[in-house]
Amino acid sequence: MFSYAGNALTRLTFSNGIEREHRSELTGSSRSKRSHRQVTLPLRTYAARTRPYSSADATKFLDARKLPFLRATKVINCCSSLSMRDSGSSGATGTAPVGTNRNTAAQRVGRAAVDWQSLGFGFTPTNCYVKAVWREQTGTWSPVEVVPYGPNGEATFPLHVASTALHYGQSIFEGLKAFACADGHVRLFRPQENARRLERSALRLNMPVVPAALFLEAVTRCVYENLEFVPPYVEQGGGGSLYVRPVLFGSGGRIGLGPADEYTFMVLVVPVGNYYKGGLSPVTAYISTNYDRAAPRGVGHVKVAGNYAADLKPSMEAKQRGYPINLYLDAREQKFIEEFGTSNFSAVRYLDENGNRYVYVTPDSPSVLEGVTNKTLMELSLDAGMKVERRRIPVEELATFDEVFASGTAVVITAVDQIVYGDQVIGIGKHPGSGQVGPVARRLYDTVRGLQTGRLPDRHGWTYLVA
Ligand code: COI
Repeated sequence: MFSYAGNALTRLTFSNGIEREHRSELTGSSRSKRSHRQVTLPLRTYAARTRPYSSADATKFLDARKLPFLRATKVINCCSSLSMRDSGSSGATGTAPVGTNRNTAAQRVGRAAVDWQSLGFGFTPTNCYVKAVWREQTGTWSPVEVVPYGPNGEATFPLHVASTALHYGQSIFEGLKAFACADGHVRLFRPQENARRLERSALRLNMPVVPAALFLEAVTRCVYENLEFVPPYVEQGGGGSLYVRPVLFGSGGRIGLGPADEYTFMVLVVPVGNYYKGGLSPVTAYISTNYDRAAPRGVGHVKVAGNYAADLKPSMEAKQRGYPINLYLDAREQKFIEEFGTSNFSAVRYLDENGNRYVYVTPDSPSVLEGVTNKTLMELSLDAGMKVERRRIPVEELATFDEVFASGTAVVITAVDQIVYGDQVIGIGKHPGSGQVGPVARRLYDTVRGLQTGRLPDRHGWTYLVA
């Protein structure tokens, strides 16, 4: 069983006996205590999903859990009223009840009127988003509600004028992706990792935890209701996916500083292509020496919206200088590599002349975001027999690496072959500036994409079946 007991300490116990603990930083207010009482969830909510999602799941999911703070009443099933936005087709897809044969992934995937060839990383209104609300009054989460966008793609949301998200930045988010796979199914990649990280972020900002089961339900439901917007499977790897954006924010109003009395958990999806135009192609990074990303005991390790707001000015300054990606050093000493503005830092060193043995190096820092993609790359590197080092990386070491790349859900991997540091340009590898992608970055990228799209066998059980 997976059990969760939140207060000052969270303990995760798995059926194989492994235990994991992490300490929360709650102030111990009565609100926090109430929102973190002990619950027990079946392990299967954390396991890879191997059965397609259906409407019955939504009901079972809620019925099965008599969680004290998740008082399920009914599932608001809007699917039957939804249609593919601007699809020009009033056809069968998107209109039948969830879980019928007509609504298989094969019939719905890629049917929306989207130009799949020129997908970037912009917002596109889809059929709907989903949400659940937590209120202090009841100390419970509402059932997952499916909310259609407006008839003309209106994507606005009513919010209390004094919401703590707006005034005090009480807002956290996640990013994960769903893929059309080679076998015609649609799968999410490692959503359990995002559920765990959202929990850590929520505890740090004194917000109620979204139970993993609720997280998985909302994410699965949102992808299912928007299957038309999943980019079609492309044999040679098109780079397209349905980006899933869960957000948890203080929606209740409060003017004095304090936690909100109401929180909204919302999940939206957008079809995306590459985050950077060049995809995996190498770019030049710029070290933002005038700014810190996050303090050692601050909120850099969790996915707090404000971390990204704080990066806007430094990253725009880097872009204005002609560098698409910026890199931070540690806040305390300005000596060690921290991470890129929107993604983790990784480097590879070839251990012999022929480049046959490799070591994967990534920063160990209390203020670096615990990236799901970086974790995946470390695990795949170990699988491939590489050494993995998680340690402090002095900025002087940059020039000694054979490969450097940024990793994150949105970018997957972006190779970096030059780094501007003050008035120096540090070349990475043997041919900096040549536009070549290193063999390790290429192999890791292909492996991740292969796993995500089902071209490679999922030995770790990382994929999670939606439809
Ligand atoms: C992601 O990689 O999913 C992120 O959260 C980065 C964001 C700036 C797109």
